[in-house]
Amino acid sequence: MKKILITGALGQIGSELTMKLRDMYGSNNIIGSGINKRKTEVTETGPFEIVDVTNAKEIYEAAKKHNVDWIVHLAAILSATGEKKPELAWNVNMNGLYNILEVARENGCGVFTPSSIAAFGPSTPKDNTPQDTLQRPETMYGVTKVAGELLCDYYFKKYGVDTRGVRFPGLISYKTLPGGGTTDYAVHIYYEALKNKRYTSPIARGTYMDMMYMPDAIDAIINLMEADGAKLTHRNAFNVTAMSFEPNEIYNEIKRHIPDFQMDYDVDENLQKIADSWPNSLNDTMARDEWGWNPKYDLAKMTQDMLEKLKTKI
Ligand code: NAD
Ligand code: SER
Repeated sequence: MKKILITGALGQIGSELTMKLRDMYGSNNIIGSGINKRKTEVTETGPFEIVDVTNAKEIYEAAKKHNVDWIVHLAAILSATGEKKPELAWNVNMNGLYNILEVARENGCGVFTPSSIAAFGPSTPKDNTPQDTLQRPETMYGVTKVAGELLCDYYFKKYGVDTRGVRFPGLISYKTLPGGGTTDYAVHIYYEALKNKRYTSPIARGTYMDMMYMPDAIDAIINLMEADGAKLTHRNAFNVTAMSFEPNEIYNEIKRHIPDFQMDYDVDENLQKIADSWPNSLNDTMARDEWGWNPKYDLAKMTQDMLEKLKTKI
């Protein structure tokens, strides 16, 4: 039986992962945490602690109080916000991760933390991007993600901390809005299609990025955490993807359900620069081989589900 502390539990991933893990392992065994507390199902259905990950003492106390054996570390500053506030991104993403790894080392915990497609840069091969390749990102977020992958490798090799992670692509979900990333357009487009039947894309036509629907992302986290550690070669940085599309393709897919939906473009040059520096499509063979990664949702299946769920929500 696992006892897990989740940082950033009120965010896009945490809000869904916490509930799923509570279903699997029992509410009292899954401790949500956040930099502040607002009433949500995460705070109301099980233990919740205020934990600022830049404060090692707060992490240590929460881990000790609940005697956790895993930490799922989700607290972070994402790519678009990170370019506006690089100092904050470095502090939260690097010092936060360092604190988590130190608490894990002292308390014998495993750590799952996601990397990102942002760990790649303009010199990375763009198509079918290999697992092991050039990583020279040009965003602060990307710099912290590459350094984070290496730091997690270091803690595994040097101290035996059971660290694991995936390079997530853009995640699409209907429960909690995304928190300041470059791929957020692929969530906002569904809301606007249903609310106003119009969307203005900040990302240019023809810009391909990898994407994934949240149920697959949650499965990736759980399946990798439950995998046999002895079989993992790329433990902290598995490429995972479910689909790759550009704005016009997601527009056309939504239009199949909402025929009078219209889209135009007003490209945000800051976001576009980031998007242009990321891969078009990842090769995720290693995740499939080492721990059985197998996503269930493509663009068509995701769009149908997103529109159904969002209709009820909105
Ligand atoms: P999010 O922005 O939705 O949630 C992050 C949470 O961290 C927020 O609730 C925020 O309040 C919290 N936070 C910020 N600073 C904090 C601090 N100092 N202490 C504690 N909490 C703090 O992010 P997410 O989408 O849930 O992402 C979770 C992880 O997955 C991050 O590492 C992110 O880089 C990674 N990831 C996400 C995506 C995606 O598309 N959502 C893609 C690739 C990787
Ligand atoms: N969705 C994330 C972002 O755009 C990718 O890490 O920042």
